[in-house]
Amino acid sequence: MAFINENFLKLPGSYLFSEIAKRVNSYKQQNPDSEVISLGIGDVTRPLAPVVIEALHQAVDEMSREETMRGYAPETGYSFLIEAIRKNDYASRGVDLDSDEIFISDGAKSDTGNIGDMLGIRNVVAVTDPVYPVYIDSNAMAGRAGCFRDGLWSDIIYLPCTPQNNFTPELPDKKVDIVYLCYPNNPTGTTLTKDQLKGWIDYALKNKVLLMFDAAYEAFISEEDVPHSIYEIEGAKQVAIEFRSFSKTAGFTGLRCGYTVVPKDLLAFDSYGKKYSLNHLWRRRQTTKFNGTAYIVQKAAAAIYSSEGKKQIKETIDYYMDNARIIKQNLEAIGMTVYGGINAPYIWAETPAGFSSWDFFDVLLDQTQIVTTPGVGFGKSGEGFIRLTAFGKRENTLEAVERIKSLKI
Ligand code: MLT
Repeated sequence: MAFINENFLKLPGSYLFSEIAKRVNSYKQQNPDSEVISLGIGDVTRPLAPVVIEALHQAVDEMSREETMRGYAPETGYSFLIEAIRKNDYASRGVDLDSDEIFISDGAKSDTGNIGDMLGIRNVVAVTDPVYPVYIDSNAMAGRAGCFRDGLWSDIIYLPCTPQNNFTPELPDKKVDIVYLCYPNNPTGTTLTKDQLKGWIDYALKNKVLLMFDAAYEAFISEEDVPHSIYEIEGAKQVAIEFRSFSKTAGFTGLRCGYTVVPKDLLAFDSYGKKYSLNHLWRRRQTTKFNGTAYIVQKAAAAIYSSEGKKQIKETIDYYMDNARIIKQNLEAIGMTVYGGINAPYIWAETPAGFSSWDFFDVLLDQTQIVTTPGVGFGKSGEGFIRLTAFGKRENTLEAVERIKSLKI
């Protein structure tokens, strides 16, 4: 007889984006002629950059010849990609990383979900609220979240991010061991300044707290004082793991590639207080459970670091950020209060007329055929908000805002 991991039984019904897809599919079945536009899940719509397509073709051709075909990739990534990342994403910002501190993977969702494998069950976890659901659900699966009641997990420490505190989480007032931070933030689209992030690093150094810093949206930063990497701040290598993704930066949601930085200075403890290198443990985990990202995908990722590649992905990012501006300006024009959309491809909008998140989600779907993401799906502090993504096609984004403007409520 096989026994299950009973922590799975504590999880609410389904993963947020699966739940939304289910509701949208049911709406489409009942309304087969409706022209539904999705500003829901943050999935890209622009074609891959020409340099990426070219690199894919070349890599596929290499795989077709005996002398250049490749089998298993190195579990932690090919050096051509690691070196490109080191140079372009870090050294260019004054951050010096060793190549064995960078672990290439199939994306930040997998890594943020898997990272807990090397961490003890008794760690107390804090998250900003609202939050990307993977951080909480993966901790719940491991048994670190306690029980789910009234929209909250009993053992998770929530750090509310609301208009009242300018979406800036307070430092925890209880003992915690691990804090997840995502900046630019998914879902609110807000950021922390260098000084604010420094406050977190000082706190983590003082209290031996591990920071999980998800920087999946760093490519969308447009303002000066917003750090692209947590390692731009002194001391961060002793306290932080950083997650990056090619999904949004270069449209790889369907190709799958990301990376995680685990500095060698980063230590954690066993129950006797003895120190261990997390870099070593993560390598042990990845080499055991992961066989590397496909060669052709890593070649494609490396292509974005050429000067032509940088130009091409910037054009796509600018396109999405123009969508963000269109959504923001049009919603503001009808009196809605919105946040984000300046350093991130997400717009976080207050629901009008006191609607709950899910009620306004339903109103928008029923009356305008626009799919959004209900804010409460990201946590209790997201109640009364919806999230709109800027990753749509331009014509759909323009059509969507016109439909929302015509909404009678
Ligand atoms: C989102 O919509 O929040 C993201 O696209 C989901 C993800 O990256 O997994």
